[in-house]
Amino acid sequence: MNKFKQPFFMKKDINAENDIDLLVTLFYEKIKANTTLAPFFANTNWEHHLPRMKEFWYFILLDKPGFRGNIYDSHSNRGIKAPHFDTWIELFCETINENFEGEIATKAINKAKELAMLFSWKLTETEGK
Ligand code: HEM
Repeated sequence: MNKFKQPFFMKKDINAENDIDLLVTLFYEKIKANTTLAPFFANTNWEHHLPRMKEFWYFILLDKPGFRGNIYDSHSNRGIKAPHFDTWIELFCETINENFEGEIATKAINKAKELAMLFSWKLTETEGK
């Protein structure tokens, strides 16, 4: 390929709410299809949870105020253990890498890894391995 030509399909960065809507939708499709993680969401009301997750990522990635909540508490007493976070991160990174690339896409991955490590550490401390 001529090195000055753009490839036919270039992935874009996450720049707008629409991009986050797509990210969240595709990510939870993967979660629902994953036999390890799906059971944690057995009682989830998706009409409530998906908009919450979108608001969360608008706040983290686009600096849009709106999301409030103690996200650590949402994960305690559910039996979530360190290996579950590895699978969660794997699916999240896969969703980003299949659809986006750029500075904000990288920020999303780093932020998710940071929070997963924090949750995993705190849950292990309080609920055991
Ligand atoms: C093994 C990994 C994880 C599991 C199994 C898990 C599971 C859950 C569940 C079951 C809920 C509650 C959904 C409901 O309303 O029924 C929830 C909420 C939430 N999770 Fe996770 N989660 C995981 C990792 C993460 C990570 C790494 C992040 C952040 C990057 C995250 C962000 C959130 C947020 C923002 C909420 C919404 C809290 C609220 O509505 O106030 N989760 N999660």
